[in-house]
Amino acid sequence: MDPLTRNTREWFQDWANEYDSTLGKLGRHHAMLDLVVKESGVRDNDSILDIGCGTGLLSLKFLEKAECRILAIDSSAQMLSLFQEKIRKFNLSPHISCEQVSAEQMEFNPRQFDIIAATVSLHHVKEKEPVIQKIYDFLKDGGRFIIGEIDMDTTGDRDDPVRLTRILKYLTSELELAMREGGVQAFERMYDNGKKHILNDGEYCIGFDQWAALCKDAGFAHVDIIPVNEYEWFKVLVATK
Ligand SMILES: C[S@@+](CC[C@H](N)C(=O)[O-])C[C@H]1O[C@@H](n2cnc3c(N)ncnc32)[C@H](O)[C@@H]1O
Repeated sequence: MDPLTRNTREWFQDWANEYDSTLGKLGRHHAMLDLVVKESGVRDNDSILDIGCGTGLLSLKFLEKAECRILAIDSSAQMLSLFQEKIRKFNLSPHISCEQVSAEQMEFNPRQFDIIAATVSLHHVKEKEPVIQKIYDFLKDGGRFIIGEIDMDTTGDRDDPVRLTRILKYLTSELELAMREGGVQAFERMYDNGKKHILNDGEYCIGFDQWAALCKDAGFAHVDIIPVNEYEWFKVLVATK
């Protein structure tokens, strides 16, 4: 492996224990998750797939809103085990089950879910198109696919200074927030994340116009993009089948 890039599974294994006290502490992360839940229109008895669930911050917010049933998947055993501890602690197993499956490997029944959601996880997928197509297939007719993501195109040549300058603008605002809201521990984590996002070849964040085009190509009938108030780099996309 290129010595500059990092294995994403090892990255999250390493980050897991500090996740809730770093990114999980930032107001802008919660603002984005809250908007995802609001825009999903979740209702009692909905069946939800949470892709890249991490420590479960999004799934738990869905459950605060409605009596739904959630299947939460993630490629990192360490992130999942922290979520499973919360599920045990709050007796949530009738509502949530977890599986260690990557987005690329997921296999479910056609038209199985009312809502499929993914927050800051799908940018790690290198081949996004086949994954979005699977998501479309797994949704019921009228079902919604919701993404909460960074609105930034980081594709291109890793050594291109123009690309790096574009990413650094985002990082400056992100690191300022991290320091202000999460202290030096969050700052250090987000700084480290920034480096990985710049250097992990192929694991690109893309802009919302690019997410929208992928959803339209997959067959989604309507795509809406909603900004996360105050946080110019973050948006939510709702694609309806
Ligand atoms: C930044 S965390 C987001 C966690 C949670 N969705 C949230 O918003 O707090 C990204 C998560 O995506 C997971 N992940 C990364 N690549 C993945 C993939 N290809 N398939 C499934 N999960 C993946 C990581 O293990 C990690 O838990």
